[in-house]
Amino acid sequence: MKYIIAIIRPDRLEEVQRALVARDIYLMTVSDVRGCGRQKGFVEQVRSRKLVNLVTKLKIEMAVNDEFVDAAVDAITLGARTGETGDGKIFVLPLEACVHVRTGASGPGAIGP
Ligand SMILES: Nc1ncnc2c1ncn2[C@@H]1O[C@H](COP(=O)(O)OP(=O)(O)OP(=O)(O)O)[C@@H](O)[C@H]1O
Ligand SMILES: [Mg+2]
Repeated sequence: MKYIIAIIRPDRLEEVQRALVARDIYLMTVSDVRGCGRQKGFVEQVRSRKLVNLVTKLKIEMAVNDEFVDAAVDAITLGARTGETGDGKIFVLPLEACVHVRTGASGPGAIGP
């Protein structure tokens, strides 16, 4: 089991979802976040101090079974890419446990389709 965290441009969500659904991947959590990448957001000089402005991004989180990891990463990459700086990052973490609250089931079967 893996936990995928992807930071993307907010306006790429629909394309990412389209690519995920085409691969039978549906379950996700999405939240509005702010972040800074290599370009440091954009940097402002305020009273001789450099301040980093955080840019609005969208965070997708997905628990997936091992056989879906490559497809999920491919789909997010395909849907989120514009080729310009700021397209985002995808992080893949080991997932130790998943418990389905309604049934009490745990393990890979609890992640769901
Ligand atoms: N190393 C990181 N750790 C945590 N979040 C990150 C990291 N790199 C990028 N992010 C998040 O992803 C968002 C988009 O990053 P971005 O695509 O600009 O990365 P980058 O390394 O600057 O690549 P590029 O040069 O293509 O812009 C950031 O605003 C931040 O929220
Ligand atoms: Mg950047």
